[in-house]
Amino acid sequence: MPTITFVEPDGTRRDVAAHPGESLMAAATRANVAGIIAECGGSAMCATCHCYLVAGTLPEAEPLEAETLEFVARNTRATSRLSCQITVTDTMEGLVLQVAPQ
Ligand code: FES
Repeated sequence: MPTITFVEPDGTRRDVAAHPGESLMAAATRANVAGIIAECGGSAMCATCHCYLVAGTLPEAEPLEAETLEFVARNTRATSRLSCQITVTDTMEGLVLQVAPQ
C-alpha cells in the first residue's frame, strides 16, 4: 500500500495510504484532501481533481485525460494530471502531487 503525498492549496502536506487499483483521486477524497472536489466522480469531465506532479513518475496520460486537461482545466502546467485517471500501483510509493488551484 503506497503512501502518496498530496500538497494542499495552502501548502499543507498530507500523506495518504493509497490502495493499489483505486484512483489517486479516490485515495485523496477518502482522506479528505483539500482542493480535490471530483465533481464528475472520475469521468475525466470536470478537472476538479487536477494536480501537478512534484516527485515520482507516472504513466503517460491517455487521450481523454490529455483532452480534458487541454480544454477544461485551468492553470495547467507541463506536470498537470487528472488524479481520477491514474490508477494507484505499488510502484508509486513516495509520489508527491500538488493540488492545483481551482
Ligand atoms: S474527477 Fe472529474 S475530471 Fe477527475
